[in-house]
Amino acid sequence: MSTKNDVNVSLISKELNNAINQQIGSEFQAKLQYLNIAAYFDTEDLPQLATFFYQQADDENMHAMKFLHYLVDASGAIEIPAVQKPEATFESAETAVNLALQNEMRVTGQINALMDLAIEEKDHIAQDFLRWFVTEQLEEVSTMKTLLNITRRAGDNLLWVEDYLSRNPLGLAAEQQVGTAVP
Ligand SMILES: [Fe+2]
Ligand SMILES: [Fe+2]
Repeated sequence: MSTKNDVNVSLISKELNNAINQQIGSEFQAKLQYLNIAAYFDTEDLPQLATFFYQQADDENMHAMKFLHYLVDASGAIEIPAVQKPEATFESAETAVNLALQNEMRVTGQINALMDLAIEEKDHIAQDFLRWFVTEQLEEVSTMKTLLNITRRAGDNLLWVEDYLSRNPLGLAAEQQVGTAVP
């Protein structure tokens, strides 16, 4: 309940506030989807693939929390929506990785739409905040596309994918990767 002493300094429009609440839902949806994919690979005794997707799930949680804290800082209203039940069974490794790639492509569209709205509203603070996500999606899509290509090439021999991932950890920041240092 508000009182006359409350300071009202909301820095976000209702429309962008609602769209970010929806985005928090999408990030949690992605988290749950990646947990199911990770558990599938874990069950199949493919630890590198499982670790990769557990890590992706953690990243999606971090994305959701970034959006949540932004709403808090901008004095917006937080209303986390219900999320759709994620896919839990997968025909093959390729199906699971392809689902993840499609998910990242959809999220990229959503982030671009948030940025479009922030530009339309001349909301410079939101544009600054959203820029991080725009760059992050380039990394997310590119990583998932690489994993899909590797998985397709390996065919039935998923140990090739395990071997690849053990030597080329995907999804890590460039500075954490081995052999990427520019002389
Ligand atoms: Fe995300
Ligand atoms: Fe993602």
